[in-house]
Amino acid sequence: MKQDMIAVVDLGSTRNTDVARAVRALGVYSEIYNYDITADELAAIPNLRGIIANGGPNDIVDGVKIGLSDAIRKCGHPVYTFDYSDNGRINEMPADDADIAAALKSFVFDDCKAEPNWNMDNFIADQIELVRRQVGESKVLLALSGGVDSSVVAALLLKAIGKQLTCVHVNHGLLRKGEPEQVVRVFKDELNANLVYVDASERFLSKLEGVSDPEKKRKIIGAEFIRVFEEEARKLDGIEFLAQGTIYPDIVESGTKTAKMVKSHHNVGGLPEDLQFELVEPLKMLFKDEVRACGKALGLPDNMVYRQPFPGPGLGVRCLGAITRDRLEAVRESDAILREEFDNYGLTGKVWQFFTIVPDFKSVGVRDNARCFDWPVIIRAVNTVDAMTAEVPELPWEVLSKITRRILSEVPNVNRVCLDMSPKPTATIEWE
Ligand code: XMP
Repeated sequence: MKQDMIAVVDLGSTRNTDVARAVRALGVYSEIYNYDITADELAAIPNLRGIIANGGPNDIVDGVKIGLSDAIRKCGHPVYTFDYSDNGRINEMPADDADIAAALKSFVFDDCKAEPNWNMDNFIADQIELVRRQVGESKVLLALSGGVDSSVVAALLLKAIGKQLTCVHVNHGLLRKGEPEQVVRVFKDELNANLVYVDASERFLSKLEGVSDPEKKRKIIGAEFIRVFEEEARKLDGIEFLAQGTIYPDIVESGTKTAKMVKSHHNVGGLPEDLQFELVEPLKMLFKDEVRACGKALGLPDNMVYRQPFPGPGLGVRCLGAITRDRLEAVRESDAILREEFDNYGLTGKVWQFFTIVPDFKSVGVRDNARCFDWPVIIRAVNTVDAMTAEVPELPWEVLSKITRRILSEVPNVNRVCLDMSPKPTATIEWE
Protein backbone atom coordinates (compact mmCIF):
# COMPACT_ATOMS: atom_id res chain seq x y z
CA MET A 1 0.00 0.00 0.00
CA LYS A 2 1.21 3.44 -0.86
CA GLN A 3 -0.51 5.60 1.72
CA ASP A 4 0.00 6.02 5.44
CA MET A 5 -3.18 5.95 7.44
CA ILE A 6 -4.63 7.37 10.64
CA ALA A 7 -7.66 5.51 12.01
CA VAL A 8 -10.45 7.53 13.59
CA VAL A 9 -12.31 5.35 16.09
CA ASP A 10 -15.87 6.52 16.72
CA LEU A 11 -16.55 6.55 20.45
CA GLY A 12 -19.87 8.35 20.06
CA SER A 13 -18.80 11.55 18.34
CA THR A 14 -21.04 13.47 15.96
CA ARG A 15 -17.99 14.88 14.17
CA ASN A 16 -16.02 11.86 12.99
CA THR A 17 -16.13 13.01 9.39
CA ASP A 18 -14.75 16.44 10.36
CA VAL A 19 -11.79 14.73 12.00
CA ALA A 20 -11.16 12.37 9.07
CA ARG A 21 -11.36 15.30 6.65
CA ALA A 22 -9.00 17.36 8.83
CA VAL A 23 -6.41 14.57 8.77
CA ARG A 24 -6.83 14.25 5.00
CA ALA A 25 -6.40 18.03 4.75
CA LEU A 26 -2.96 17.48 6.32
CA GLY A 27 -2.20 15.15 3.40
CA VAL A 28 -2.56 11.90 5.37
CA TYR A 29 -5.23 9.33 4.56
CA SER A 30 -7.76 8.64 7.29
CA GLU A 31 -10.71 6.29 7.74
CA ILE A 32 -13.40 6.01 10.39
CA TYR A 33 -13.95 2.77 12.32
CA ASN A 34 -16.68 1.63 14.66
CA TYR A 35 -16.10 1.70 18.41
CA ASP A 36 -15.98 -2.10 18.57
CA ILE A 37 -12.98 -2.54 16.28
CA THR A 38 -10.47 -4.82 18.00
CA ALA A 39 -6.76 -4.20 18.50
CA ASP A 40 -6.07 -7.14 16.15
CA GLU A 41 -8.24 -5.66 13.42
CA LEU A 42 -6.47 -2.33 13.78
CA ALA A 43 -3.09 -4.06 13.68
CA ALA A 44 -4.07 -5.65 10.35
CA ILE A 45 -4.59 -2.25 8.66
CA PRO A 46 -1.71 -1.69 6.24
CA ASN A 47 0.46 1.36 6.98
CA LEU A 48 -1.50 2.35 10.10
CA ARG A 49 0.46 5.12 11.83
CA GLY A 50 -1.83 6.26 14.62
CA ILE A 51 -5.29 6.26 16.17
CA ILE A 52 -7.64 9.11 17.04
CA ALA A 53 -10.35 8.15 19.52
CA ASN A 54 -13.37 10.41 19.19
CA GLY A 55 -15.65 10.68 22.19
CA GLY A 56 -19.00 12.45 22.18
CA PRO A 57 -22.67 12.45 23.10
CA ASN A 58 -23.54 9.10 21.48
CA ASP A 59 -21.30 7.10 23.81
CA ILE A 60 -24.00 4.86 25.26
CA VAL A 61 -24.74 1.84 23.06
CA ASP A 62 -27.33 -0.72 24.20
CA GLY A 63 -27.24 0.89 27.65
CA VAL A 64 -23.47 0.52 28.03
CA LYS A 65 -20.92 3.33 27.97
CA ILE A 66 -18.37 2.67 25.24
CA GLY A 67 -14.67 3.48 25.52
CA LEU A 68 -11.16 2.77 24.41
CA SER A 69 -10.00 -0.76 25.24
CA ASP A 70 -6.70 -1.43 27.01
CA ALA A 71 -5.72 -3.65 24.10
CA ILE A 72 -5.98 -0.68 21.71
CA ARG A 73 -4.07 1.57 24.10
CA LYS A 74 -1.29 -0.99 24.21
CA CYS A 75 -1.30 -1.82 20.50
CA GLY A 76 1.88 0.14 19.92
CA HIS A 77 0.42 2.99 17.85
CA PRO A 78 0.19 6.55 19.18
CA VAL A 79 -3.33 7.41 20.37
CA TYR A 80 -4.92 10.89 20.50
CA THR A 81 -8.30 11.46 22.08
CA PHE A 82 -10.95 14.09 21.41
CA ASP A 83 -13.78 14.87 23.82
CA TYR A 84 -12.90 11.78 25.83
CA SER A 85 -11.70 11.73 29.39
CA ASP A 86 -8.27 10.14 29.38
CA ASN A 87 -7.14 9.86 33.00
CA GLY A 88 -8.96 13.12 33.67
CA ARG A 89 -7.38 14.96 30.71
CA ILE A 90 -9.69 16.03 27.89
CA ASN A 91 -8.71 17.42 24.49
CA GLU A 92 -11.73 19.41 23.43
CA MET A 93 -12.53 19.26 19.76
CA PRO A 94 -12.07 22.72 18.16
CA ALA A 95 -15.13 24.26 16.55
CA ASP A 96 -13.99 24.32 12.93
CA ASP A 97 -12.06 22.04 10.62
CA ALA A 98 -8.96 24.33 10.18
CA ASP A 99 -8.54 24.41 13.89
CA ILE A 100 -9.03 20.54 14.21
CA ALA A 101 -6.24 20.17 11.60
CA ALA A 102 -3.95 22.47 13.61
CA ALA A 103 -4.61 20.52 16.81
CA LEU A 104 -3.69 17.26 15.09
CA LYS A 105 -0.64 18.41 13.16
CA SER A 106 1.98 17.59 15.74
CA PHE A 107 0.28 14.27 16.65
CA VAL A 108 0.10 13.18 13.00
CA PHE A 109 3.60 14.19 11.96
CA ASP A 110 5.68 14.13 15.18
CA ASP A 111 4.07 11.33 17.21
CA CYS A 112 2.81 9.11 14.40
CA LYS A 113 5.59 10.02 11.93
CA ALA A 114 3.02 9.80 9.14
CA GLU A 115 4.06 10.85 5.65
CA PRO A 116 1.77 13.30 3.84
CA ASN A 117 1.36 10.90 0.93
CA TRP A 118 -2.46 10.97 0.53
CA ASN A 119 -3.18 11.98 -3.03
CA MET A 120 -5.40 10.68 -5.81
CA ASP A 121 -2.65 8.85 -7.66
CA ASN A 122 -1.77 6.86 -4.54
CA PHE A 123 -5.44 6.32 -3.68
CA ILE A 124 -6.13 4.98 -7.16
CA ALA A 125 -3.06 2.73 -7.08
CA ASP A 126 -4.14 1.33 -3.69
CA GLN A 127 -7.73 0.75 -4.81
CA ILE A 128 -6.57 -1.00 -7.97
CA GLU A 129 -4.50 -3.36 -5.84
CA LEU A 130 -7.36 -3.95 -3.38
CA VAL A 131 -9.95 -4.57 -6.11
CA ARG A 132 -7.66 -7.03 -7.89
CA ARG A 133 -7.09 -8.82 -4.60
CA GLN A 134 -10.84 -8.94 -3.84
CA VAL A 135 -12.05 -9.96 -7.29
CA GLY A 136 -9.28 -12.24 -8.56
CA GLU A 137 -10.29 -13.63 -11.94
CA SER A 138 -14.03 -13.19 -11.38
CA LYS A 139 -16.49 -11.03 -13.27
CA VAL A 140 -18.01 -7.81 -11.94
CA LEU A 141 -21.26 -6.10 -12.90
CA LEU A 142 -21.95 -2.36 -12.57
CA ALA A 143 -25.12 -0.34 -13.14
CA LEU A 144 -23.68 2.69 -14.90
CA SER A 145 -26.14 5.57 -14.71
CA GLY A 146 -23.77 8.19 -16.07
CA GLY A 147 -23.83 10.02 -12.73
CA VAL A 148 -20.57 11.09 -11.11
CA ASP A 149 -20.22 8.20 -8.68
CA SER A 150 -21.00 5.29 -10.99
CA SER A 151 -18.90 6.83 -13.77
CA VAL A 152 -15.87 7.16 -11.50
CA VAL A 153 -16.31 3.58 -10.25
CA ALA A 154 -16.48 2.38 -13.85
CA ALA A 155 -13.31 4.25 -14.82
CA LEU A 156 -11.46 2.94 -11.76
CA LEU A 157 -12.56 -0.67 -12.26
CA LEU A 158 -11.66 -0.52 -15.93
CA LYS A 159 -8.11 0.33 -14.88
CA ALA A 160 -8.10 -2.43 -12.27
CA ILE A 161 -9.79 -5.33 -14.05
CA GLY A 162 -10.57 -4.20 -17.62
CA LYS A 163 -12.76 -6.70 -19.44
CA GLN A 164 -13.72 -8.54 -16.25
CA LEU A 165 -16.10 -5.62 -15.73
CA THR A 166 -19.45 -5.42 -17.49
CA CYS A 167 -21.34 -2.12 -17.27
CA VAL A 168 -25.07 -1.96 -17.87
CA HIS A 169 -26.50 1.41 -18.84
CA VAL A 170 -30.27 1.50 -18.67
CA ASN A 171 -31.83 4.38 -20.58
CA HIS A 172 -35.22 4.81 -18.92
CA GLY A 173 -36.22 7.48 -21.41
CA LEU A 174 -36.07 10.17 -18.72
CA LEU A 175 -32.43 11.14 -19.16
CA ARG A 176 -31.27 14.55 -20.31
CA LYS A 177 -30.51 15.28 -23.94
CA GLY A 178 -27.22 13.69 -25.00
CA GLU A 179 -26.64 11.73 -21.77
CA PRO A 180 -26.99 8.13 -22.97
CA GLU A 181 -24.93 8.99 -26.04
CA GLN A 182 -22.15 10.39 -23.84
CA VAL A 183 -22.08 7.29 -21.63
CA VAL A 184 -21.73 5.09 -24.72
CA ARG A 185 -19.11 7.36 -26.30
CA VAL A 186 -16.92 7.71 -23.19
CA PHE A 187 -17.12 4.16 -21.88
CA LYS A 188 -17.61 1.99 -24.95
CA ASP A 189 -15.81 3.95 -27.66
CA GLU A 190 -13.07 5.72 -25.71
CA LEU A 191 -12.41 3.49 -22.69
CA ASN A 192 -13.23 0.26 -24.50
CA ALA A 193 -15.48 -1.07 -21.72
CA ASN A 194 -17.80 -4.05 -21.97
CA LEU A 195 -20.94 -1.94 -22.03
CA VAL A 196 -24.46 -3.25 -22.38
CA TYR A 197 -26.70 -0.37 -23.45
CA VAL A 198 -30.39 -1.00 -22.90
CA ASP A 199 -32.87 1.40 -24.43
CA ALA A 200 -35.89 0.73 -22.22
CA SER A 201 -37.56 4.10 -22.90
CA GLU A 202 -40.75 2.67 -24.37
CA ARG A 203 -41.12 0.18 -21.54
CA PHE A 204 -40.82 2.88 -18.87
CA LEU A 205 -43.11 5.32 -20.68
CA SER A 206 -45.84 2.76 -21.11
CA LYS A 207 -45.60 1.75 -17.40
CA LEU A 208 -45.93 5.43 -16.49
CA GLU A 209 -48.85 6.16 -18.78
CA GLY A 210 -51.64 7.97 -16.95
CA VAL A 211 -49.81 7.95 -13.59
CA SER A 212 -49.87 11.42 -12.07
CA ASP A 213 -48.92 10.90 -8.41
CA PRO A 214 -45.22 11.80 -8.03
CA GLU A 215 -44.47 9.12 -5.45
CA LYS A 216 -46.15 6.46 -7.61
CA LYS A 217 -44.07 7.67 -10.57
CA ARG A 218 -40.89 7.38 -8.47
CA LYS A 219 -41.82 3.86 -7.31
CA ILE A 220 -42.60 2.68 -10.84
CA ILE A 221 -39.33 4.08 -12.20
CA GLY A 222 -37.28 2.57 -9.32
CA ALA A 223 -38.91 -0.85 -9.49
CA GLU A 224 -38.78 -1.05 -13.27
CA PHE A 225 -35.12 -0.06 -13.19
CA ILE A 226 -34.25 -2.97 -10.93
CA ARG A 227 -36.30 -5.34 -13.10
CA VAL A 228 -34.52 -4.29 -16.30
CA PHE A 229 -31.13 -4.48 -14.59
CA GLU A 230 -31.86 -7.96 -13.22
CA GLU A 231 -33.00 -9.18 -16.63
CA GLU A 232 -29.74 -8.00 -18.17
CA ALA A 233 -27.70 -9.51 -15.33
CA ARG A 234 -29.40 -12.88 -15.86
CA LYS A 235 -28.23 -12.89 -19.47
CA LEU A 236 -24.62 -12.65 -18.36
CA ASP A 237 -22.67 -15.69 -17.22
CA GLY A 238 -20.56 -16.09 -14.14
CA ILE A 239 -20.97 -12.72 -12.46
CA GLU A 240 -19.90 -12.94 -8.81
CA PHE A 241 -19.49 -9.31 -7.84
CA LEU A 242 -21.68 -6.23 -8.00
CA ALA A 243 -19.89 -2.88 -8.07
CA GLN A 244 -21.54 0.18 -6.57
CA GLY A 245 -20.81 3.88 -6.49
CA THR A 246 -21.37 4.09 -2.75
CA ILE A 247 -19.57 7.11 -1.32
CA TYR A 248 -18.76 8.07 2.24
CA PRO A 249 -21.74 10.38 2.94
CA ASP A 250 -24.11 7.54 1.87
CA ILE A 251 -22.67 5.40 4.64
CA VAL A 252 -22.60 8.13 7.27
CA GLU A 253 -26.15 9.29 6.51
CA SER A 254 -27.43 5.74 6.65
CA GLY A 255 -26.25 5.60 10.28
CA THR A 256 -23.14 4.27 11.99
CA LYS A 257 -23.09 2.05 15.06
CA THR A 258 -23.39 5.12 17.31
CA ALA A 259 -25.10 7.75 15.13
CA LYS A 260 -28.70 7.76 14.00
CA MET A 261 -29.79 7.47 10.40
CA VAL A 262 -30.31 10.75 8.51
CA LYS A 263 -31.80 9.14 5.42
CA SER A 264 -31.57 5.69 3.97
CA HIS A 265 -29.58 5.24 0.80
CA HIS A 266 -30.75 2.58 -1.57
CA ASN A 267 -27.19 1.44 -2.11
CA VAL A 268 -26.42 0.99 1.60
CA GLY A 269 -29.33 -0.61 3.44
CA GLY A 270 -31.77 -1.22 0.62
CA LEU A 271 -30.24 -4.25 -1.07
CA PRO A 272 -32.14 -7.52 -0.90
CA GLU A 273 -30.95 -9.81 1.88
CA ASP A 274 -30.53 -12.71 -0.49
CA LEU A 275 -28.27 -10.73 -2.80
CA GLN A 276 -26.20 -13.24 -4.66
CA PHE A 277 -23.30 -10.97 -5.34
CA GLU A 278 -20.44 -9.74 -3.21
CA LEU A 279 -20.13 -5.95 -3.31
CA VAL A 280 -17.20 -3.98 -4.70
CA GLU A 281 -17.28 -0.38 -3.47
CA PRO A 282 -13.96 1.31 -4.16
CA LEU A 283 -15.20 4.86 -3.44
CA LYS A 284 -16.91 4.14 -0.16
CA MET A 285 -14.34 6.11 1.84
CA LEU A 286 -14.40 9.22 -0.37
CA PHE A 287 -16.25 12.46 0.09
CA LYS A 288 -17.96 13.94 -2.97
CA ASP A 289 -15.20 16.44 -3.81
CA GLU A 290 -12.66 13.61 -3.56
CA VAL A 291 -14.76 11.45 -5.91
CA ARG A 292 -14.63 14.27 -8.46
CA ALA A 293 -10.85 14.59 -8.00
CA CYS A 294 -10.57 10.82 -8.50
CA GLY A 295 -12.62 11.04 -11.72
CA LYS A 296 -10.42 13.84 -13.02
CA ALA A 297 -7.26 11.88 -12.18
CA LEU A 298 -8.74 8.94 -14.14
CA GLY A 299 -9.23 11.19 -17.16
CA LEU A 300 -13.04 11.47 -17.24
CA PRO A 301 -14.42 14.58 -19.02
CA ASP A 302 -15.24 17.63 -16.88
CA ASN A 303 -18.94 17.61 -17.71
CA MET A 304 -19.16 14.09 -16.27
CA VAL A 305 -17.03 14.78 -13.19
CA TYR A 306 -18.62 18.14 -12.33
CA ARG A 307 -22.09 17.07 -13.39
CA GLN A 308 -24.81 18.72 -11.33
CA PRO A 309 -27.00 16.43 -9.19
CA PHE A 310 -29.69 14.73 -11.22
CA PRO A 311 -32.51 12.78 -9.57
CA GLY A 312 -32.81 9.04 -10.18
CA PRO A 313 -36.33 9.42 -11.67
CA GLY A 314 -34.80 12.00 -14.01
CA LEU A 315 -36.98 14.20 -16.16
CA GLY A 316 -39.94 12.10 -15.00
CA VAL A 317 -40.38 14.40 -11.97
CA ARG A 318 -39.93 17.53 -14.09
CA CYS A 319 -42.68 16.63 -16.53
CA LEU A 320 -45.38 17.23 -13.95
CA GLY A 321 -48.37 14.96 -13.49
CA ALA A 322 -48.98 12.14 -15.95
CA ILE A 323 -46.05 12.13 -18.37
CA THR A 324 -46.84 12.79 -22.01
CA ARG A 325 -44.39 12.55 -24.88
CA ASP A 326 -44.83 16.12 -26.10
CA ARG A 327 -44.24 17.60 -22.64
CA LEU A 328 -41.32 15.25 -21.97
CA GLU A 329 -39.67 16.46 -25.18
CA ALA A 330 -40.39 20.05 -24.11
CA VAL A 331 -38.61 19.42 -20.77
CA ARG A 332 -35.66 17.73 -22.49
CA GLU A 333 -35.22 20.38 -25.19
CA SER A 334 -35.67 23.36 -22.87
CA ASP A 335 -33.26 21.82 -20.33
CA ALA A 336 -30.66 21.39 -23.09
CA ILE A 337 -31.04 25.06 -24.09
CA LEU A 338 -30.75 26.17 -20.47
CA ARG A 339 -27.60 24.11 -19.95
CA GLU A 340 -26.04 25.33 -23.18
CA GLU A 341 -26.62 29.00 -22.32
CA PHE A 342 -25.42 28.56 -18.72
CA ASP A 343 -22.24 27.10 -20.22
CA ASN A 344 -21.92 29.96 -22.70
CA TYR A 345 -22.22 32.56 -19.94
CA GLY A 346 -19.85 30.77 -17.53
CA LEU A 347 -22.60 30.00 -15.01
CA THR A 348 -22.33 26.22 -15.00
CA GLY A 349 -19.85 25.90 -12.12
CA LYS A 350 -21.38 28.81 -10.22
CA VAL A 351 -24.96 27.57 -9.87
CA TRP A 352 -25.47 24.32 -7.96
CA GLN A 353 -28.46 22.96 -9.83
CA PHE A 354 -30.48 24.32 -12.75
CA PHE A 355 -33.15 22.75 -14.91
CA THR A 356 -36.57 23.29 -16.44
CA ILE A 357 -40.01 22.03 -15.57
CA VAL A 358 -43.10 21.65 -17.72
CA PRO A 359 -46.40 21.61 -15.79
CA ASP A 360 -49.53 19.85 -16.96
CA PHE A 361 -51.62 22.91 -17.72
CA LYS A 362 -51.76 25.20 -20.73
CA SER A 363 -52.13 28.93 -21.09
CA VAL A 364 -53.32 31.19 -23.86
CA GLY A 365 -50.81 32.86 -26.15
CA VAL A 366 -50.53 34.24 -29.61
CA ARG A 367 -48.48 32.86 -32.46
CA ASP A 368 -48.56 33.82 -36.19
CA ASN A 369 -51.40 36.24 -35.47
CA ALA A 370 -53.53 33.46 -34.07
CA ARG A 371 -54.50 32.39 -30.61
CA CYS A 372 -52.52 29.40 -29.31
CA PHE A 373 -53.03 27.26 -26.26
CA ASP A 374 -49.67 25.79 -25.19
CA TRP A 375 -47.44 24.63 -22.30
CA PRO A 376 -45.34 26.93 -20.14
CA VAL A 377 -41.69 26.15 -19.26
CA ILE A 378 -40.46 27.04 -15.78
CA ILE A 379 -36.79 27.78 -15.12
CA ARG A 380 -35.41 26.61 -11.77
CA ALA A 381 -31.89 27.52 -10.61
CA VAL A 382 -30.68 27.17 -7.01
CA ASN A 383 -27.61 27.39 -4.86
CA THR A 384 -27.25 25.23 -1.77
CA VAL A 385 -24.66 23.49 0.35
CA ASP A 386 -26.50 20.32 1.29
CA ALA A 387 -29.85 20.54 -0.60
CA MET A 388 -31.67 20.87 2.74
CA THR A 389 -32.14 24.61 2.18
CA ALA A 390 -31.60 26.51 -1.06
CA GLU A 391 -31.43 30.08 -2.37
CA VAL A 392 -32.21 31.42 -5.82
CA PRO A 393 -29.12 33.16 -7.23
CA GLU A 394 -29.35 36.45 -9.12
CA LEU A 395 -29.07 35.63 -12.81
CA PRO A 396 -28.07 38.12 -15.51
CA TRP A 397 -31.12 39.43 -17.36
CA GLU A 398 -29.30 38.93 -20.65
CA VAL A 399 -29.00 35.17 -20.02
CA LEU A 400 -32.61 34.83 -18.96
CA SER A 401 -33.83 36.73 -22.03
CA LYS A 402 -31.68 34.68 -24.37
CA ILE A 403 -32.88 31.40 -22.84
CA THR A 404 -36.49 32.60 -23.04
CA ARG A 405 -36.17 33.63 -26.69
CA ARG A 406 -34.55 30.34 -27.62
CA ILE A 407 -37.08 28.18 -25.77
CA LEU A 408 -40.00 30.04 -27.35
CA SER A 409 -38.62 29.71 -30.84
CA GLU A 410 -37.02 26.24 -30.68
CA VAL A 411 -39.24 24.13 -28.43
CA PRO A 412 -42.54 23.02 -29.97
CA ASN A 413 -45.83 23.52 -28.09
CA VAL A 414 -44.44 26.09 -25.63
CA ASN A 415 -45.69 29.69 -25.50
CA ARG A 416 -44.50 31.01 -22.13
CA VAL A 417 -41.34 30.91 -19.95
CA CYS A 418 -41.43 31.61 -16.21
CA LEU A 419 -38.71 31.89 -13.53
CA ASP A 420 -39.19 30.21 -10.16
CA MET A 421 -37.93 32.65 -7.50
CA SER A 422 -38.78 30.53 -4.45
CA PRO A 423 -36.19 29.52 -1.86
CA LYS A 424 -36.29 26.17 -0.03
CA PRO A 425 -38.13 26.34 2.31
CA THR A 426 -40.95 26.94 1.54
CA ALA A 427 -40.53 25.43 -1.90
CA THR A 428 -38.50 22.29 -2.55
CA ILE A 429 -35.87 22.26 -5.30
CA GLU A 430 -37.84 19.90 -7.54
CA TRP A 431 -41.51 20.55 -8.27
CA GLU A 432 -42.56 16.97 -7.58
P1 XMP B 1 -35.91 18.60 -3.13
O1 XMP B 1 -36.86 18.66 -4.27
O2 XMP B 1 -36.25 17.56 -2.11
O3 XMP B 1 -34.51 18.15 -3.77
O4 XMP B 1 -35.64 19.94 -2.49
C1 XMP B 1 -33.29 18.05 -3.07
C2 XMP B 1 -32.28 17.37 -3.96
O5 XMP B 1 -32.65 16.00 -4.15
C3 XMP B 1 -32.84 15.71 -5.52
N1 XMP B 1 -33.99 14.81 -5.64
C4 XMP B 1 -33.90 13.50 -5.90
N2 XMP B 1 -32.85 12.71 -6.14
N3 XMP B 1 -34.29 10.87 -6.45
C5 XMP B 1 -33.04 11.40 -6.43
O6 XMP B 1 -32.08 10.67 -6.68
C6 XMP B 1 -35.41 11.59 -6.20
O7 XMP B 1 -36.52 11.07 -6.24
C7 XMP B 1 -35.19 12.98 -5.92
N4 XMP B 1 -36.03 13.99 -5.63
C8 XMP B 1 -35.28 15.10 -5.45
C9 XMP B 1 -33.08 17.06 -6.18
O8 XMP B 1 -32.73 17.04 -7.56
C10 XMP B 1 -32.19 17.97 -5.36
O9 XMP B 1 -30.84 17.91 -5.78
